[in-house]
Amino acid sequence: MLKVTALNHSYGAVQALREVSLEAPAGAITCVMGRNGVGKTTLLRSLMGQLGTNRGEVRLGNNDISRAKAHLRAKLGLALVPQGREIFPKLTVEENLLVGLSARRDGSRRLPELVFSTFPILKDFRKRMGGDLSGGQQQQLAIARALVGDPQVLMLDEPTEGIQPNVIDLIGDVLQRLAAQGMAIILVEQYFEFIRRIGHRYVVMDRGRVVDQGLVASMDTAAVGKHLSV
Ligand SMILES: Nc1ncnc2c1ncn2[C@@H]1O[C@H](COP(=O)(O)OP(=O)(O)O)[C@@H](O)[C@H]1O
Ligand SMILES: [Mg+2]
Repeated sequence: MLKVTALNHSYGAVQALREVSLEAPAGAITCVMGRNGVGKTTLLRSLMGQLGTNRGEVRLGNNDISRAKAHLRAKLGLALVPQGREIFPKLTVEENLLVGLSARRDGSRRLPELVFSTFPILKDFRKRMGGDLSGGQQQQLAIARALVGDPQVLMLDEPTEGIQPNVIDLIGDVLQRLAAQGMAIILVEQYFEFIRRIGHRYVVMDRGRVVDQGLVASMDTAAVGKHLSV
């Protein structure tokens, strides 16, 4: 579904991505691991088209989207749940969700009932301000906002960061269900047990490079762990 070949990105003199190549197939949860500062967020923001054009190729299905702007990538079916959630605090839950509708290919202006059945708390709190929600509720809102755009590829940047275990379980169940329905999911995550529970494929990054990748089921935990511990 999504295929990345030799992607590079520099912030001035700091080269944050070096020849990154990976694939995120439909129906699979592809987990990107690595310590702080290795380039995980840069990778997702670059794939989303938020960092301008980079050297390298990004293909979504049969489309070369390497030069596409962020809004076009969203229309083509890419969605990002950003690190730190980036909920609009002064908008209601409903208004936050309406923002996500702009990505829809079918032009629908109605919020799909599915997001409320997936995250019932958002229905109860429809009229509350985004900024008044707890961290776990905001994370559900951030995921729901991405889902209302009906993406083909869902990217999440450390969604379990600072979230209590029952909400992590809910997020895990939702991601597994979406993958089973054919979505390609790219999950940036440092919570190893979560990856082992729901991940299909893994990619390990170190200092801007992909240093290992494979199937979670046959992952050499000790070898991967060396790239994660300090
Ligand atoms: N806006 C920026 N300007 C300059 N350097 C940045 C910027 N954002 C990130 N970096 C640097 O790029 C590298 C990768 O950062 P990031 O992608 O945020 O890593 P991760 O998400 O894996 O923690 C780090 O060295 C970081 O300091
Ligand atoms: Mg990050």
